[in-house]
Amino acid sequence: MYLGLDLGTSGLKGVLIDEQGRVLGQSSASLVVTTPFSTWSEQDPTSWWQACRDVIADLKKTFDLSLLKGIGLSGQMHGATLLDKKGQVLRPCILWNDGRSQDQCLAMMDEFPELIDKSGNLAMPGFTAPKLRWVKENEPDVFAKTAFVLLPKDYLAYKLTGSISSDYSDASGTLWLNPSARCWDEELLSASSLSKSNMPKLFEGCDVVGRLTEKSSKELGVPQVPLVAGAGDNAAGAIGMGVVNSGQGIISLGTSGVYFAVSDSHKANPRNTVHAFCHALPNRWHQMGVTLSAANCLGWYADLVDESVPKLLERLEQANILETSVVFLPYLNGERTPHNDANASGQFFGLSSNTNQADMVLAILEGVAFSLLDCQEVLIDAGSDVENLSLIGGGARSPLWRQIIANVLGKTLFYREGGEIGPAVGAARLALIGVEYNLGGNIEGLIEQHCYMPDVIVTHNPNLDLAEYYQNKFCTYKSLYQLTKSLNK
Ligand code: XUL
Repeated sequence: MYLGLDLGTSGLKGVLIDEQGRVLGQSSASLVVTTPFSTWSEQDPTSWWQACRDVIADLKKTFDLSLLKGIGLSGQMHGATLLDKKGQVLRPCILWNDGRSQDQCLAMMDEFPELIDKSGNLAMPGFTAPKLRWVKENEPDVFAKTAFVLLPKDYLAYKLTGSISSDYSDASGTLWLNPSARCWDEELLSASSLSKSNMPKLFEGCDVVGRLTEKSSKELGVPQVPLVAGAGDNAAGAIGMGVVNSGQGIISLGTSGVYFAVSDSHKANPRNTVHAFCHALPNRWHQMGVTLSAANCLGWYADLVDESVPKLLERLEQANILETSVVFLPYLNGERTPHNDANASGQFFGLSSNTNQADMVLAILEGVAFSLLDCQEVLIDAGSDVENLSLIGGGARSPLWRQIIANVLGKTLFYREGGEIGPAVGAARLALIGVEYNLGGNIEGLIEQHCYMPDVIVTHNPNLDLAEYYQNKFCTYKSLYQLTKSLNK
């Protein structure tokens, strides 16, 4: 039995799989994001460890975890978790959807333009390097004490095994990695006044980084099993859906929205806000477009109207409307792809006295789908036109949303078994591969055996009758941002 732990933004999920990769059970614990100032987004790393303990305690009520053979990690990317030389957390983690470092991004690219070619990516707020520059400028005492910079899931690896480690997929989102050579780049680090000594040791996602320490094993009540490095949540989600070869992709509807396409080399296209990162398995890379608020938009609206997300979706289905005049821009936390604009803001447009709640919810679902269409356009331009696309993430539970996305993208989309827990399944699969590899397996054989595509539950073909409606609305959606962006502060 293998455990995948996925440290998301809204919660931590644990999923158990057996030796054949079948999902045995799952548990989750929620996490809180704090926003002390507009555009900030932070989380307390000690709450991750508590959530990890809660999830494992809950799984133990149903499963005999003495049978556990390995653990894998998946995690929200880019977060800056700063530790002092004793391994103590210095400040709350600055998360992937934090927009405070826009000025630092511009300064970094201005002072060191080679950054773009070396990292293969634009400096975008939310990535780790600009956050460290912000800390250096605004919290010099914290910067001076920083001995290690860890990504969120790597803090869990440290708590579990004591090892300071990371994997190439997650490390790609720091802006300190050379993704094509799969190693830290000294020049990129020194441009941030850091060096390799501040960085975790790098591994492939399926490499074992260590075993649980006696302390963590006692605290959690599980054996001292091996831990693999794991992956950033998008790469882990892809692995969970068997998306490991060029031409395959996923769309993730989590707190963020992600359009992810596997590539067989590092294909940088930075000017277009394409993220070009390592995949979590050897000799594989990927491109992705990222929209910062996806399922987050629905959760935000549900809170505003004091209703649950499932209830809002149920009411929309009952209203049975396919079109609305309302247009929604989902930029509640600024936007990365395609605008790279931390100050972009959310908008509703086209309201009238006839507008009702169903219109608003439909507009939200469509707005997120349009932001994924923006991602699709930049990815196609960057050479990734994916034909085999699976949907993952909590938002993908909604059949209506899945269908709207298929309609807007004009693509057939597959919703597969385990789609809503894809990253945790991927993390558990990486543990299975890593443990079997250490027993003498062949890596490509193990990838083929364990990274299969789960069965399709529903296939969504685009509804061509609505194509003109969506085309017109997408034009309005795009114009709205262009016409109003100078008003954002
Ligand atoms: C990817 C990104 C998000 C987070 C969400 O670049 O920032 O998808 O990984 O957890």
